[in-house]
Amino acid sequence: MDKLHIIGGRPLHGRIVIGGAKNAALPLMCAALLTREKVTLDNVPYLADITTMAKLLMQHGAALSLQDNPPPLGSAPHYSRRLTLEATHIASITAPYDLVRTMRASVLVLGPLLAREGRAKVSLPGGCAIGTRPIDLHLMAMEALGARITLEEGYVLAEAPAGGLKGGDIHFEKVSVGATENALMAACLASGTTCIRNAAREPEIGDLTALLTAMGARIEGAGTDTLIIHGVTSLAGAQHRVIADRIETGSYLAALAMTGGEIELEGARPDTLGAVIEAMDHIGVKMVEEEGILRVTRRAGALTPRDIITEPYPGFPTDMQAQLMTILTQAEGDSAISETIFENRFMHVPELTRMGARISVSGHTATVHGRTPLKGAPVMATDLRASVSLVIAALGAEGETTISRIYHLDRGYERLEEKLAACGAEIKRVR
Ligand code: UD1
Repeated sequence: MDKLHIIGGRPLHGRIVIGGAKNAALPLMCAALLTREKVTLDNVPYLADITTMAKLLMQHGAALSLQDNPPPLGSAPHYSRRLTLEATHIASITAPYDLVRTMRASVLVLGPLLAREGRAKVSLPGGCAIGTRPIDLHLMAMEALGARITLEEGYVLAEAPAGGLKGGDIHFEKVSVGATENALMAACLASGTTCIRNAAREPEIGDLTALLTAMGARIEGAGTDTLIIHGVTSLAGAQHRVIADRIETGSYLAALAMTGGEIELEGARPDTLGAVIEAMDHIGVKMVEEEGILRVTRRAGALTPRDIITEPYPGFPTDMQAQLMTILTQAEGDSAISETIFENRFMHVPELTRMGARISVSGHTATVHGRTPLKGAPVMATDLRASVSLVIAALGAEGETTISRIYHLDRGYERLEEKLAACGAEIKRVR
């Protein structure tokens, strides 16, 4: 199994190209099931989760082709990929356990399959490292559109009424990114009008709305918590560029906060990172945007502590919680971090503690007692964002850190070690 070896203490200097957002690309790929025509996605990141979604869509009958557009010589290491998806016929309405189990976002085929075929059979995702993560809100949304839901041997069987899904009122009692996306995609092909209230407002949902609109969907209220969808009878193909990954961007901001130096982030979308930028600025990171480049440095002196509460967008993202916790170990004083989105999302705490951090957890709040020097140690990645927080800790630690189980990182960070090494980090993948 691959591991990362990192020797800490090197400031980062250089340019990093930000890739397309994994969390945008996954639902965009599922949207291709809504049409017989070609959907072309540019700026698709090359990640394990994208490969898993490609496998799932192929077994549903979609034809996929990937074109690499290698970067010009001498530019920062990043590939922009064009993925073409064409689901002329749906070969299977079943999303099997093996694929759903490895990636929860597989459940995003439910809405499109049900809307197009009138039936979908999707495995229940099962437990997950960062909490129980049920799919009740997804199912409630499908029922609100007239579907009948039954559970059969670990699978959800959803059946539309005769004549297909019907527009309806969907009111989410809790904000859910995935359930909003499933509801949105299904409603596009439902007859009549659907209103989704308390919809998630993450930028990735804006990206999905943009693709669906380009395909011919009629959606009002994009970017707000109330979406009105006027159903259409069919959707056409379209071309779309995947939005920049705000969590990848935020992770490199955190890396720079840890190491110091100066990096330029190319292709970032700071407008999608409001709460993260505000927190980073408070902590001591200086960010200046010029001609599409975000120039990042660290202010002189110690980092400033900061309390953080994770919330749905536009609040502080749970996917940046572990990275912020890591840099706050270097702040002069205590910071309280409250995780309100997922239970059990502090699995990085024992690993950071092994490296010298002092963090006490009580319920859903972790208090980081800064500042403590970090020391290299063997540590283990436990989930995607926890893994990158260990990389960030290792970059700032004295001595060598070995991170095992980095398959988690490969799910969501493209060429992480190459991008960091190009900026002077001592980081190596060992097989
Ligand atoms: C998405 C992101 C993930 C991010 C999360 C929150 C993708 C592929 N993944 O995950 O990186 O951490 O948003 O920003 O985009 N919930 C229910 N019932 C449901 C659905 C969700 O109770 O039917 C709960 C979850 O357990 C969680 C909360 O709602 O506590 C938010 O989850 P949700 O927004 O649905 O996360 P995902 O879409 O799975």
